[in-house]
Amino acid sequence: PRVAVVVVAAGSGTRLAAGGPKAFVGIDDATILRHALRGVFAAPRAQVIVVAPAGREGDARTEALEAAGDRRDLVSVVTGGASRQDSVAAGLAALWGDVEVVLVHDAARALTPSDVFARVIDAVQAGAAGVLPVLPVVDTIKRVSGSTVLAAVDRSELAAAQTPQGFRRDVLLTAYEAASQEFTDDAALVADAGHPVRTVAGDPRAFKITTSADLDRARALVAGDPV
Ligand code: CTP
Ligand code: MG
Repeated sequence: PRVAVVVVAAGSGTRLAAGGPKAFVGIDDATILRHALRGVFAAPRAQVIVVAPAGREGDARTEALEAAGDRRDLVSVVTGGASRQDSVAAGLAALWGDVEVVLVHDAARALTPSDVFARVIDAVQAGAAGVLPVLPVVDTIKRVSGSTVLAAVDRSELAAAQTPQGFRRDVLLTAYEAASQEFTDDAALVADAGHPVRTVAGDPRAFKITTSADLDRARALVAGDPV
């Protein structure tokens, strides 16, 4: 396939504090990683590289193969690094074949609908160097210094960044080679390398499971409870 998705799942989940790596925490009968991979495999056909915590590669492979259906031959699993950026780099090193579009996705955004992947892929294939799914910011945001309010920030200039973020393969690989510091996300790393990044609509269900309150929200959504 001409598209690859790097699913970073190698984090330790410090803030969730569930007693083990976040990717293997259950939402219902399925883990965060399994839910994330269901979205990936429901999206347009792509090579899928799962970046797993050291020592949990076998578990990640099992999850991926069970989620893959008839796409098992498109799955690879590699070991992550100390930072998210290191984990993405490890995933990029495992790309194979004639891939032209690379998406990077947080496993922790477990309930991301497959149409977000499709929108991001379409925008890269339509010519964008980098594509970022975003949501409008709904809260009123203030610039502060300690406990002093400095100013309100114009919300219309702000957007909340999600994943999957998508890039032309050459753009992402050269930007990663050039990166000499840690960036907050791949879009920032690519923008710093001088490439334009455009937005597409994100989705509220693509929220990142970070804290136990987020996990509760994911459990309610999966159970079909009103949230
Ligand atoms: N991630 C990764 N490798 C790392 C750190 C993070 O692959 N060294 C991945 C996580 O698995 C997650 C995504 O990057 O899917 C976003 O990171 P985050 O939500 O911060 O997850 P954790 O780093 O695991 O959580 P925490 O920061 O609370 O420890
Ligand atoms: Mg983290």
